Amino acid sequence: MLTKINQLLQEVQALQAGNAEEIEALRIKYLGKKGVINELMADFRNVPAEAKKSVGMELNKLKEQAQEKIAALKAQFKERKSGLEELDLTRTPYPVGVGTRHPLSIVKNEIVDIFARMGFNIADGPEVEDDWHVFSSMNFAEDHPARDMQDTFFIEEGAENVSHNIILRTHTSSVQSRVMETTKPPIRVICPGRVYRNEAISYRAHAFFHQVEALYVDKQVSFADLRQVLLVFARQMFGEDTKIRLRPSYFPFTEPSAEMDISCNICGGKGCPFCKGTGWVEILGCGMVDPNVLELNGIDSKVYSGYAIGMGIERITNLKYRVNDLRLFSENDLRFLKEFQTAY
Ligand code: DAH
Repeated sequence: MLTKINQLLQEVQALQAGNAEEIEALRIKYLGKKGVINELMADFRNVPAEAKKSVGMELNKLKEQAQEKIAALKAQFKERKSGLEELDLTRTPYPVGVGTRHPLSIVKNEIVDIFARMGFNIADGPEVEDDWHVFSSMNFAEDHPARDMQDTFFIEEGAENVSHNIILRTHTSSVQSRVMETTKPPIRVICPGRVYRNEAISYRAHAFFHQVEALYVDKQVSFADLRQVLLVFARQMFGEDTKIRLRPSYFPFTEPSAEMDISCNICGGKGCPFCKGTGWVEILGCGMVDPNVLELNGIDSKVYSGYAIGMGIERITNLKYRVNDLRLFSENDLRFLKEFQTAY
C-alpha cells in the first residue's frame, strides 16, 4: 500500500489542467466519494496494526497534497482567465509617444480663432508663387528693392518679362491678391502661412518664417474699423489691459499705412530691456488697402475700400512665450518642444 501511496503522491504533484472541466475531473478522480484516495481509505482497515501509523500518516499526506494541488490549479486557472479578459488587443506593443503642438501652431491657431470669432474665413495660397501675386499686384514698383535676388528666392527666372519669375513668396500679402482676383466683396479673410526670404540665419533672422495676413474689403470700410479690430485682437491675444498705438509707416500696398505697437506685456509698459525702456513693442503692419491694389486685382476702388493687416507669428510667439532665438522653432529639439504641452 505504501508503494501505491508514494506513486500517487508523485502523480498528484505532476497534475496539469487546461480548463475548469479538466480540474473538476481530476478532483473527482482523486478526491471524489469513489475517488482513488477514498478507495485507499477503505482498504486501510486491511493494513496490519503495526503499519497503521506510518501508512495512515502517508495517506493523510496524500489527501492533503491532492487537495492543495487541486486548489492551486483552480487559482492558477482563474488568474490566467482574468488575464485574458483584460487583454487589450488594440494596444500597440510599443509605447506610443504623444507629441505636443508646435509653439508656432499654438499661436497661429490662437490668432486665427480670434479673427474667426470676428467673422473672418481662412484663405490659402501657394508658397511657390509668381512675381505678379507677390509684388506687381501688390503695387510694388518694378525697381522695388524687395524684388531683388538678395531678398527673394528665385525658382525660375522669366525670359523677357520679369513678371513671369517664379519665386518663393516673401510675404502672405500674395494671398490678398489670390483672394481678390476670385472673390466679389465683401471679403473678410485671414491667411496664415510660411514665407521665405534670402537672409543669413541667426537668432533674429531666418530664411523661412510665418505670417498671418488679414484682409477686409467692403463698402465704406474705414480706418476706425481697422483700429477697433486691432484693439480687440491685441486684448484677446495679450490680455484685457493691453494698450495699442499706431505709428505712421509705409507699405506699397496700403495707404495710409501704420505699424502697431502694444504696451510691453513683459513690464506692463513701465519700460524694461525687452522694450528697450520704451514701454512699447512693435507687433504688426497694417493700413487701408491702396486703391491701386483693389484695381489691379479687379475690384472697383470707387465702390469698395478695405483694410489689411500682416503680422509675423514668430514675433508674437516671442512676446507670448519669450522664445528669443528664432532657430529654436526649426531645430526639432524635443526639450524645447515639450515645454509647450498645452491642450490648445
Ligand atoms: N507684407 C508685410 C511684410 O511682410 C506685412 C504687412 C504690412 C502686411 C502691412 C499687410 C499690411 O497686410 O497691411 O512685411
